[in-house]
Amino acid sequence: MELIQRPRRLRGNEILRKMVRETRMDKSSLIYPLFVKEGTNIREEIPSMEGQYRYSIDRLPYELEELQKAGVGSVMLFGIPDHKDAVGSGAYDDQGIVQRALREAKKQFPDLYYITDVCMCEYTSHGHCGVLCGHDVDNDATLELLAKTALSHVEAGADMVAPSDMMDGRVRAIREMLDKNGHTGSPIMSYAVKYASAFYGPFRDAAGSAPSFGDRRSYQMDFHNRREGMKEALTDIGEGADIIMVKPAMSYLDMVSEVSKAVNVPVAAYSVSGEYAMVKAAAKNGWIDEERIISEMAVGAYRAGAQIYITYYAKELARLMDEGRIG
Ligand code: PBG
Repeated sequence: MELIQRPRRLRGNEILRKMVRETRMDKSSLIYPLFVKEGTNIREEIPSMEGQYRYSIDRLPYELEELQKAGVGSVMLFGIPDHKDAVGSGAYDDQGIVQRALREAKKQFPDLYYITDVCMCEYTSHGHCGVLCGHDVDNDATLELLAKTALSHVEAGADMVAPSDMMDGRVRAIREMLDKNGHTGSPIMSYAVKYASAFYGPFRDAAGSAPSFGDRRSYQMDFHNRREGMKEALTDIGEGADIIMVKPAMSYLDMVSEVSKAVNVPVAAYSVSGEYAMVKAAAKNGWIDEERIISEMAVGAYRAGAQIYITYYAKELARLMDEGRIG
């Protein structure tokens, strides 16, 4: 048979297959989300996220050590406070859970890179991502509180802040606040392309941050919209975002691809709690091959154009990369 194109020629040998790989990954691009809560001697498994834990500050170092050993250099911290109120005052309290966790973690593991999630929903009694005016989130009143939260994180040692609230103008408000206080070098990773998604369900269990009434659709995006996602990405870059995040990852790789082509800043994809929970549940039943599934999910995000991958599977992926099974 006279065939000019025989794509299989490049697939016949493992060395060759690796040589011609188009997507290469590195452990340094992984970020691991971590939940820290009040109390002592706590390491409790999150029921809807088997294998993920909430740690009290004193137990956090064990996990940080494991991450460092695994070669995962960056963490994203989420706080679970004991006290919640209408204005989320725990979020910007110098003695808040994230602020104290940061100081302790930085002391013990100064070589890790600490990113903090900046949002109000874990700290408000009503569970919304900002302060309320009636039953609505008051955008402009929330901005100042988000900026204060970001500043207190940076002053407690955060290397980077990541606002996830989806209020209009929050990147600018945070940038101005950080700059005014001398933190011009602290980058902002914006959860810019963030959709109102059922994939966050397990996270809200984990962090106790489900809204007590209504939902988040007046601030997070409608998942039917592609152009609106671009608008959010470009707006946030205009306001000073250094990195743009797309969230969730798996059902939104079109957005990772489109954003990465349209912008000139790094793009992060966040494989969220629901993605993790689905894989865990199916794997536990023996219905899928967990390692191969998480490999495909991760490679898919990088192939779409992400430079950074935020995942609860960071340690497992790091091991798979070490073993040369992906990467
Ligand atoms: C806080 C926040 C959420 C997530 C990250 N930051 C929850 C939400 O927006 O409801 C979700 C992360 C995940 O599901 O893994 N606003």
